[in-house]
Amino acid sequence: MHFPTMSHIITQFFVHTSILVLILQSIVCLSLQNDTISAGVIIRDPESIISAKKQYKLGFFSPPNTTNRYLGIFFAFSEETVVWVANRDTPLKDSSGAITLSQDGNLVVLDGTNRTVWSTNFTTSSVVSPIVQILDTGNLILREEASRDTLWESFLHPTDVNLPGMLLSQNVRTGKQVLVTAWKSATDPGTGSFTGGLDAMRGPPQLVTYNEGRLLWRSGPWNGLIFVGIKEMFYAYLDMYFKVYNDSAGNFFYTRPQNDALLTIAVINSSGIAIRKVWNGVEKRWDIGGAYPENECDFYGKCGVFGSCNALELPICSCLRGFEPVNEEEWGRGNWTNGCRRKNQLQCGEDGFERMRHMKVPDFPMPLPSRIQDECRTTCLGNCSCIAYAYDGNIGCMFWSDTLIDTQEFDGVGVDLYVRLSASEFDSHKERKLYIIIGVAVGFFCMSIVMFIAWWLIVKRKGNKAQDSSILEAGQMFTTDSTAIVLKNESKEVNIGDLPKFTFEMLANATNQFHLDNLLGRGGFGPVYKGVLANEKEIAVKRLSAESGQGMQEFMNEVILISKLQHKNLVKLLGGCVEKEEKILIYEYMPNKSLDACLFGPTNPTKKLLDWNMRYSIIEGIGRGILYLHRDSRLRIIHRDLKPSNVLLDKDWNPKISDFGMARIFGGNEDHGSTARVVGTYGYMAPEYGMEGRFSEKSDVYSFGVLILEIIKGKKNTHYFNDELSLSLIGCAWKMWNESNGLSFVEESIASRETEEEMVRCIQIGLLCVQEYPKDRPSIEIVLSMLSRDIVELPLPKQPVFAENGSTPGPNGSTQQNVYSNNELTLSVLDGR
Ligand SMILES: *[C@@H]1O[C@H](CO)[C@@H](O)[C@H](O)[C@H]1NC(C)=O
Ligand SMILES: *[C@@H]1O[C@H](CO)[C@@H](O)[C@H](O)[C@H]1NC(C)=O
Ligand SMILES: *[C@@H]1O[C@H](CO)[C@@H](O)[C@H](O)[C@H]1NC(C)=O
Ligand SMILES: *[C@@H]1O[C@H](CO)[C@@H](O)[C@H](O)[C@H]1NC(C)=O
Ligand SMILES: *[C@@H]1O[C@H](CO)[C@@H](O)[C@H](O)[C@H]1NC(C)=O
Ligand SMILES: *[C@@H]1O[C@H](CO)[C@@H](O)[C@H](O)[C@H]1NC(C)=O
Ligand SMILES: *[C@@H]1O[C@H](CO)[C@@H](O)[C@H](O)[C@H]1NC(C)=O
Ligand SMILES: *[C@@H]1O[C@H](CO)[C@@H](O)[C@H](O)[C@H]1NC(C)=O
Repeated sequence: MHFPTMSHIITQFFVHTSILVLILQSIVCLSLQNDTISAGVIIRDPESIISAKKQYKLGFFSPPNTTNRYLGIFFAFSEETVVWVANRDTPLKDSSGAITLSQDGNLVVLDGTNRTVWSTNFTTSSVVSPIVQILDTGNLILREEASRDTLWESFLHPTDVNLPGMLLSQNVRTGKQVLVTAWKSATDPGTGSFTGGLDAMRGPPQLVTYNEGRLLWRSGPWNGLIFVGIKEMFYAYLDMYFKVYNDSAGNFFYTRPQNDALLTIAVINSSGIAIRKVWNGVEKRWDIGGAYPENECDFYGKCGVFGSCNALELPICSCLRGFEPVNEEEWGRGNWTNGCRRKNQLQCGEDGFERMRHMKVPDFPMPLPSRIQDECRTTCLGNCSCIAYAYDGNIGCMFWSDTLIDTQEFDGVGVDLYVRLSASEFDSHKERKLYIIIGVAVGFFCMSIVMFIAWWLIVKRKGNKAQDSSILEAGQMFTTDSTAIVLKNESKEVNIGDLPKFTFEMLANATNQFHLDNLLGRGGFGPVYKGVLANEKEIAVKRLSAESGQGMQEFMNEVILISKLQHKNLVKLLGGCVEKEEKILIYEYMPNKSLDACLFGPTNPTKKLLDWNMRYSIIEGIGRGILYLHRDSRLRIIHRDLKPSNVLLDKDWNPKISDFGMARIFGGNEDHGSTARVVGTYGYMAPEYGMEGRFSEKSDVYSFGVLILEIIKGKKNTHYFNDELSLSLIGCAWKMWNESNGLSFVEESIASRETEEEMVRCIQIGLLCVQEYPKDRPSIEIVLSMLSRDIVELPLPKQPVFAENGSTPGPNGSTQQNVYSNNELTLSVLDGR
């Protein structure tokens, strides 16, 4: 009984009115209500059938500017949006068409003379009583009336639209693909020349489009979260958005789960552009969410082999470093198809690698799972046929062996590509150039010192500006444009201030030369090792990998921030080390590792220790740590990357928040910020942050809500390689809590009737934190008061976004939420927008 009386009355009210509406609807619509065609029934143009929840219609239509008639499926609320066409190549010339089930059980389209113009062509010896049904997913199925087994379905014979829930696939053994195929033109739905789908034969699965079977565009490899060759995906909130998975028969599938709040379709139009469209329920139109190829560089192999494309430069094509055009003359004229060739042949043993930052990686990568970037380099160096490698945290290593084609340079996001070049590319005559650069740098440095001294003298004279101002300066530094910070730090002089300094040698000895056996995990910007100092003190050593320039900003951020913070629930920084390329931070060692390892580790013996009381105190501890960041420290800090792997546990199982690489400091009266560079972790990011880059304290509250639910359930929020479209963790919590069945959400090993009330209450607090709109989420003080029962009565949470994968989008997608589920009436949350 978690509904207080007042809301119970409201529920009853809605339940009763809903029943009334249902009854009324069924009376009014009885004659039109059928979503099925059974044997003997004939549907004549312009009759149609409509799906149970009135989402999709099956009927006849004419495209613009023609009188031809086609059988198609379209949205009931937007009839001009045709999502499937039956007789696309055999139009009816007039409106005398009809659909029915033929003797052999096939669905057929007949013309005025009873001739079959289209058939499902399904063949089987014995169909007893076939029935055709249009589902609320937009799928048209043919099945035996008595059984649920489908004999034929339109989802496996798509036209030009990919609907949520539809699978695009490829079998890697036979090469067989299920593709969408464009219309011939906007007025002719006939089979066009452009197709699109999933390709799993060129390396990790990726989305592709073809023109008459030739590759036109590719999305880059799927890394378990995003397609790494689509720039926008590095920014957008795409969690629960795509799924790519495979089965043991060698089939790879791509699908988009259904999502009530955001009805999205993907179309390949007659000019070969793959477009993602989002239904705008308010303005009753489709908004374009993305279109590919997006620019010239997106066309497959635009710059030929060993070329690289950059849409922001003119000319867009250039040869990779160490390569030159095959045909200078044609290249100069902008005919890049011939590509480039190597200037100096490889020597195998003595080669080096040129790093190219932020790339769309070339086609045909060979993946090899690995947690360590250095391993990719060693492996590639050790194999003379390896000509390039790249590393992605989720895929691991990728290697290339023959050519590098369809390489593109992005701006600020993407994967770093390391191209193998002959050692002679890196040596002697380059040195003179280097001297010049050094000369300029030294000159600049001297000038800076002079200016700095001048500035310092001025400041000094101004007198007693106390310590506060220096803190503000740190804050200022990080609220300015992020690129500026990167540039500032790129000069090798890194000042770690008052932080105790360790030498590299000391740390190398402490970690057994950074031995793999000492690896504890990976933080935001590099591996973390366990170390033991000469005095036997245990430490955790976080090493910024020498190559990941991206981590520099995070490194400085962490140094400046965390050295000013002190709280029982924040991890303590013991010191730092900056020597040459090495940047290292040293923390207190946490014997119980991270919450991530304890909660989700496979059959972890320590998990047994995590009983309910322990988990409750961990939740409270994390909350207090966040409160300190948001309110109690002298700076106002938003962590931006709260997740179980960033919560460490000390020997007494006290939680300590770590990894401040992403955190942002706020000035006094600012209460939210925005950024073009969305950092954080899919699955824990609040929707407004992930989608629009807006963040505030409430985005941390969202992540905390996800954490609470994960701690209760003992499961991670995201499982990407699920074979089934299952509910997300949040969806699951919502459903069970809503059905007054909260206890069944709790991890089995700790679920108990005695603590049920507290557990259910905790789920409710978690749900309050993950509400869609920041204004609805409680602040962290309120959350803590709820946890400590200073606040006894909890408000009712609204349905979170992405809660239900398995339901159908409403006609005005973005504002309406599902009223009916599982033929059962539940309280719909009416959203005051
Ligand atoms: C609706 O379908 C049922 C079962 O297939 C059938 O008995 C009934 O006649 C249909 N009604 C209409 C109006 O087609
Ligand atoms: C239909 O014809 C009108 C008039 O010729 C033209 O303006 C319009 O663009 C056409 N529509 C399509 C989809 O081709
Ligand atoms: C088509 O078939 C229907 C029913 O089987 C029949 O009533 C109709 O006369 C036929 N039309 C023609 C043109 O044969
Ligand atoms: C059905 O089969 C016939 C003959 O094999 C073929 O011409 C027709 O295109 C097929 N129709 C469909 C929809 O596959
Ligand atoms: C999916 O594919 C990978 C590699 O192609 C393979 O190792 C794995 O076994 C496949 N999964 C299943 C369930 O067969
Ligand atoms: C296909 O989509 C692109 C991008 O939205 C658009 O520019 C183009 O006109 C469309 N082509 C047709 C035939 O509608
Ligand atoms: C580009 O160069 C190739 C080979 O030199 C030639 O065959 C082709 O016609 C050229 N393409 C254009 C558009 O000039
Ligand atoms: C070297 O790489 C090629 C292609 O990447 C692979 O086929 C071959 O087995 C590798 N050789 C060794 C010794 O690993």
